[in-house]
Amino acid sequence: MALVTTREMFKKAYDGGYAVGAFNVNNMEIVQGITEAAAQERSPVILQVSAGARRYANHTYLMKLVEAAALEVDIPMALHLDHGADFEICKSCIDGGFTSVMIDGSRFAFEENIALTKKVVEYAHEKGVVVEGELGKLAGVEDEVEVHEENALYTNPDEVEEFVARTGVDSLAIAIGTSHGAFKFKPGQRPQLRFDILAEIEKRLPNYPIVLHGSSSVNQKYVADIRKYGGILDDAIGIPEEMLRKAAQSAVCKINIDSDVRLAMTAAVRRDLAEHQGHFDPREYLRPARDNVRELVRHKIQHVLGSSGQA
Ligand code: G3H
Ligand code: 13P
Ligand code: ZN
Repeated sequence: MALVTTREMFKKAYDGGYAVGAFNVNNMEIVQGITEAAAQERSPVILQVSAGARRYANHTYLMKLVEAAALEVDIPMALHLDHGADFEICKSCIDGGFTSVMIDGSRFAFEENIALTKKVVEYAHEKGVVVEGELGKLAGVEDEVEVHEENALYTNPDEVEEFVARTGVDSLAIAIGTSHGAFKFKPGQRPQLRFDILAEIEKRLPNYPIVLHGSSSVNQKYVADIRKYGGILDDAIGIPEEMLRKAAQSAVCKINIDSDVRLAMTAAVRRDLAEHQGHFDPREYLRPARDNVRELVRHKIQHVLGSSGQA
């Protein structure tokens, strides 16, 4: 099936009370693990590429890997730029075949964010590509930008209608307490999401798709394996799955997951190399890594996103 935009996916997800998973991709095994899982579950899926992933793997390689997956599996699949920092990277991805881009103007003041987002929307819409914007600031690390907790800001519901109306943006990422990376909460801290802010935003933007970034749950099985097989990892704590499940039943139509995929892959590679000292063929340790990604994504689709059977 050809790559699609997220327009129809989000409409169905909004009406159906589920969310579509947006998983970050960097290489072939990750693309295969995610798309095979989505195909097995008959679920729509979004593959997303960060600026760092583009630098690592090169735009054309990623594009062709995703096109190959779209030929292999018959489910709705979108290719999205994650955290586009400026107009140029968005333009490059739009021109280069992506069906969706994020322009992340959340570091700018309101008016500047509007101007930048509107510019990207105008260019994207002309080419049939959809755009995600962001209001509010998440804590954590994305690419080289680190936002400390004290600088993280919840989205102000009073701003969302004006932002959407003036930019024409197709979906909106909001900050309600999720954060990037594997260390979202300190040991002993009670994970919390501001569902009151989400409810207020839903009221202001009826029938409008909301996006949650920083939504890995940090499966302790993978953390334990990484430690058991020689890795050094501080206490990693994510967003509890039941909170994300609740969000998926609301206006949240896209849930971003990257750290969980990293942990699942690394746990498998460490385990394989520790248990088989003689392995040096990359296929020997990348096969279980891909298997872990597939199992992780199936689990997310079934228990977090609720998107099984919606393809
Ligand atoms: O939000 C950021 C994503 O986890 C991508 O991370 O920029 O290291 O590829 P990256
Ligand atoms: P995690 O670090 O929680 O996986 O978030 C990923 C993300 O938001 C990508 O944009
Ligand atoms: Zn993000």
